Amino acid sequence: MKRIIAPSILSANFLKLGNDIEMLNHSEAEWIHFDVMDGVFVPNISFGLPILEQVRTITTKPLDVHLMIKNPDPFIVPFKNAGADNITVHYETCTHLHRTIHFIKEQGIMASVCLNPHTPVELLSEILPDVDMVLIMSVNPGYGGQKFIESSYQKVQKLRNIIDKKNLNTLIEVDGGVNFETGKKLFEAGANVLVTGSFIFKSEQPLETIKHLLHE
Ligand code: DX5
Ligand code: ZN
Repeated sequence: MKRIIAPSILSANFLKLGNDIEMLNHSEAEWIHFDVMDGVFVPNISFGLPILEQVRTITTKPLDVHLMIKNPDPFIVPFKNAGADNITVHYETCTHLHRTIHFIKEQGIMASVCLNPHTPVELLSEILPDVDMVLIMSVNPGYGGQKFIESSYQKVQKLRNIIDKKNLNTLIEVDGGVNFETGKKLFEAGANVLVTGSFIFKSEQPLETIKHLLHE
């Protein structure tokens, strides 16, 4: 099964962001995760289009954009134009999720949906064939460095069973509190993509940490 590490630059050193992206360019991380927060849907504000545009100029790795914003529809084209290769919207923010997902796909990029810890995977049954990836939040979105919610393993397993039963190739991504221990168990539970922020950027040897997360 496909396994990808997607470091979240939310925990990078913003004063030396170029150096951190360079480090990721030389790493085994296949994607770069980009956390956009609006201070409305989540209780924090992060960064947006101008930063993504600049990051795009110094990496060829796919940019995995996680929109934690209340009203994502008007921002889909701008984020695609700024360099997004995947756009993930939250189930909790999209009244017309089917329309939003298909609008993202019409831009020629991956379209994914994210579930907050309290949102059951069963709610995705109708939309699953239309999405490229499901992002399971294993913390409440808004901050890096939070404690992993243990029930997330079961949620990943449940979703893996549904995807396999339907014979789909939808990817499962998990975001929040990923470290060597939780990461290993998440891959075993059926996850394909692990987002990890503080664990990589606080590590003494981020390249080794990424390698270990991927192969352990
Ligand atoms: C949380 C973000 C995450 C965050 C993960 O709202 O979506 O991507 O950066 O951070 P860690 O890996 O530190 O839990
Ligand atoms: Zn994220």
